[in-house]
Amino acid sequence: MPYPQERLRRLRRTESLRRLVRETTLTRSDLVYPLFVVEGRGIRQEISSLPGLYRFSPDRLGPEADEIQGLGVPAVLLFGIPRHKDPRGTSAWNKNGPVQKAIRFLKARSPELIVMTDVCLCEYTSHGHCGIVQGAEVLNDPTLEALCRMALSHAEAGADLVAPSDMMDGRIRAVRQALDQAGFSHVPIMSYAAKFASAFYGPFREAAESAPAFGDRRSYQMDPPNRREAVREVLLDIEEGADIVMVKPALAYLDILREVRNVCRHPLAAYNVSGEYAMVKAAAARGWIDGPRVMMEILLAIKRAGADLVITYFAKEAARALRTD
Ligand code: PBG
Repeated sequence: MPYPQERLRRLRRTESLRRLVRETTLTRSDLVYPLFVVEGRGIRQEISSLPGLYRFSPDRLGPEADEIQGLGVPAVLLFGIPRHKDPRGTSAWNKNGPVQKAIRFLKARSPELIVMTDVCLCEYTSHGHCGIVQGAEVLNDPTLEALCRMALSHAEAGADLVAPSDMMDGRIRAVRQALDQAGFSHVPIMSYAAKFASAFYGPFREAAESAPAFGDRRSYQMDPPNRREAVREVLLDIEEGADIVMVKPALAYLDILREVRNVCRHPLAAYNVSGEYAMVKAAAARGWIDGPRVMMEILLAIKRAGADLVITYFAKEAARALRTD
């Protein structure tokens, strides 16, 4: 029945009516908060490219963990910034590296907080690439062994979940096997399955000191125009044993999120990346947009596109806004 019988505005008249027929919700349990950990002691240093975020040494994570838990955010995703970098990224599996120490610290202090770890060599290699390099090539198969060692060292330290983000072929199967053989068959893998070679990672690379020294990541991260290929990446990672699949970045890739949602039944994560956060912060600081409203609109749009969980630098701020729900 068309207008004038049908009037869609009827259900928009009051906030209670709008709530009643709302199709998508964002809750605090959907959120994952990224944390950057550095070596040393007593360090809490603001990240200039990500206002409101800090680099912490493991010993200073206590109050931060309390705050995150107090806000009802269930999980953190750890990124490490080591002092020592070399061509093979060997400090990535150092038992006493910042991430390994942070995992032990957090699991002892806040056992309920889910500790996820990013598994990728780019913060640990002197050249900043996500794999082992030969000449100008980023080698696939030799990188897998390094990734397995890194994932294992996180599991040994007590990580609840590991998240490979390097985009090498076959890494999910390799990491799954390594974990299973070492007695960690209970540790889930969240695969950065469809990760695009994106300019939206800029502020993160400053935060994590992980910009490539030469070339770019286009020989391993995905080409932004490709949607069908994203589906192939996701389905392959599921076959290889991924428990959760991720699309990254989120905002310019909402169509990919929807496409992936429609082709698989696995939990789907979206990474609302550093550039997406920084743009909102910068425009809000100039008074050009209403920061808190834009934040909520973005996070909801990511969920509407099909994401079950959202990794976001806004997690604490969004959780604060959602506290009454
Ligand atoms: C590591 C990694 C990156 C991000 C997450 N894991 C950087 C990259 O691929 O260059 C980006 C996160 C962000 O921009 O917020 N490979």
